[in-house]
Amino acid sequence: MRHLMSPMDFSVEELEKLMDLAGDIEANPAKYAHACEGKKLATLFYEPSTRTRLSHEAAMLNLGGNIMGFSSADSSSAAKGESVSDTIRTISCYADICAMRHPKEGAPMVACRHSSIPVINAGDGGHQHPTQTLTDLLTIRSLKGHLGNMNIGLCGDLKFGRTVHSLIHALVRYPGVEFTLISPEELRLPGYIRSDVLDKNDIPYQEVVRLEDALPKLDLLYMTRVQKERFFNEEDYVRMKDFYILDAKKMALAPKDMYVLHPLPRVNEISVEVDSDPRAAYFRQMQYGVYIRMALILTLLEIEVK
Ligand code: NCD
Repeated sequence: MRHLMSPMDFSVEELEKLMDLAGDIEANPAKYAHACEGKKLATLFYEPSTRTRLSHEAAMLNLGGNIMGFSSADSSSAAKGESVSDTIRTISCYADICAMRHPKEGAPMVACRHSSIPVINAGDGGHQHPTQTLTDLLTIRSLKGHLGNMNIGLCGDLKFGRTVHSLIHALVRYPGVEFTLISPEELRLPGYIRSDVLDKNDIPYQEVVRLEDALPKLDLLYMTRVQKERFFNEEDYVRMKDFYILDAKKMALAPKDMYVLHPLPRVNEISVEVDSDPRAAYFRQMQYGVYIRMALILTLLEIEVK
């Protein structure tokens, strides 16, 4: 049985297959409409979510399966003090696959050790968010036609942003990738990712504070929200929250084919005037998130559609 804890759980070849399957699902939705009939997905969300929870649910419904779950810790027995391991033993009796989001790093990993059904990590604290990465890879491949040979700007909260952490892990496996890390000093990418992932794989990267300095050289810009819920005090958050605001004036500095991605939700970091720029790809990105999660559910449940 397979789980998805980190994007590294899939090899580059397996990722290609997964993205090809997502492409076929997009092109032939009717072919997959009954693939998961009789199967149930449980979404166990101990932290707020709109896209990740609902896109997993939409994915399972599109496959003809059923869904169940909770959308906050308060409405589950976690509020009574139940452990993640006991909860997953319970869910294993009710569902065929589950997606778990938890504020504690490693919680889905604990769950998968006690689970008899596949567990998908739907975001664990500031650590990883592999299904967002699958979404991001499919989006980049669809827009650019390939995944290597590009300078990717990652901008915003690189310290607490789990989407960025997972994306870096996944992208260093493609040739010719380099990163421009754009963040305030306080929100730099954690040292362990710089040394264990970037340096270890000889990936070229630059750290800059000003977005304007980076923009002209980027092939892709991945914007992120300052992760309010992971700050220790409100004051620091307020100081950081509007550090970057991408607007039409800044977009004018960027190459004509520099797509802008964002895992969403956005707060102020992308001005709404950018939405109508053809390079704004963050709404298309959400749609890819459904196709790739459909492909993921089929793969983890080992269901082949002929
Ligand atoms: C992200 C997350 O939860 O980490 N959202 C998402 O799943 N699309 C990004 C964020 O909350 O900033």
